Amino acid sequence: MNTSKALSPLKLGNGVQVANRLMMSAMCDLGATADGQVTQEEVDFMKTRAGFGGMIVTAGAYPQANGLGLPGQYSAARDSDIKGLSKLAAAMKSRGAKAILQIGHAGREAAIPAQQGIPVLVPTKMDFPWINYPIEEMTNDDVNQLITDWGKATQRAIDAGFDGVEIHNCNHDLVQQFFSAFSNHRTDQWGGSFEKRCALPLAILKETHRVIAASDKPDFIIGWRISPDEIHGENVGFTVDDMLKQTKLVLNEGIDYLNISLTGSTYSYKSKANGYDQTYAQLFHAIMPDSVPLYIGSQIQTPADVEDALTVADGVYMAREALIDPEFTDKLKSGHANEIITTMSEERIKQVHLPKALVKDYTTPGGLRESIPLPGLTD
Ligand SMILES: Cc1cc2nc3c(=O)[nH]c(=O)nc-3n(C[C@H](O)[C@H](O)[C@H](O)COP(=O)(O)O)c2cc1C
Repeated sequence: MNTSKALSPLKLGNGVQVANRLMMSAMCDLGATADGQVTQEEVDFMKTRAGFGGMIVTAGAYPQANGLGLPGQYSAARDSDIKGLSKLAAAMKSRGAKAILQIGHAGREAAIPAQQGIPVLVPTKMDFPWINYPIEEMTNDDVNQLITDWGKATQRAIDAGFDGVEIHNCNHDLVQQFFSAFSNHRTDQWGGSFEKRCALPLAILKETHRVIAASDKPDFIIGWRISPDEIHGENVGFTVDDMLKQTKLVLNEGIDYLNISLTGSTYSYKSKANGYDQTYAQLFHAIMPDSVPLYIGSQIQTPADVEDALTVADGVYMAREALIDPEFTDKLKSGHANEIITTMSEERIKQVHLPKALVKDYTTPGGLRESIPLPGLTD
């Protein structure tokens, strides 16, 4: 393979240059304590993968206690989190990558906070058949508090030494829940028309800009991660056309990269958009200004996949491949691409510096082994 494109530098929207076009995307790797503190296991996980890409993204960190979605996510909701997050940022930056803190809020999916009696907040209180705990509709004050707390989490990312944040507007989490016509039936300024359903995502982006400007950090990176559509049979939250429209507004407001999350076993980086002959990557690339790179991924495992994806996008993200072979990029750089490992095994998973809880989840039936299977470890 001609590795020159993958390994060539890339300029982000704010002019900051990343060393290459590879990114390790966000992975909640179950490496935090029950109350969201970064563990040594998590630091080791990141240190082992610090050479994986020009940018390395953390698991989604929650900006409010009721934003925890998956066990082992870390908190960015308290000033006391800054110490642990600083260790994480230092490990991620140890080989020159830009360290990005993903900030995400689970909204209705906050099953763990629900068990602890913490109110679970949603844009609209309605019946979600898969949810068996009480949910509460957010008041205007709740929405404003969320925006403020998101800004505070961004400030903690700055204070902890991260190079940027990635806003999690995807994977059915709270920001997406506000954009979704399926889950947002509000009649105030936060719901209803397309413009009003964009209000919360845009308010969070504006607050992020405000915090960065107040800290005088023009180099601080703002990444924006989207789900390109939300269609479940008859339940349509938004189409790809809706998300293209939202993304244009977001680009006007200013982001430094766009990442399309194609998470789920039916997706790959080559997936065609619903109702289109073009791929998601092609549709979104067509609306991007040259100055803002597009990252795509999903089921990218080999250098040939990377090369193929880079014919459409500016950058490529990988998640599971980074679990399987943390040395992927080192092998590319040193001309040993043929030594890249693309399948996990029951033995290997214990040797590649993964948090014990993640190893357990992937070596036990059900759980992640089923929902986001690792090649080589499926039932
Ligand atoms: C264990 C695991 C945890 C994940 N957690 C997150 C997360 O916290 N936030 C997020 O945006 N995506 C998360 N993802 C999705 C990945 O970033 C990626 O989009 C997906 O795995 C597809 O890419 P891949 O085929 O390279 O793995 C996770 C994936 C895995 C495997």
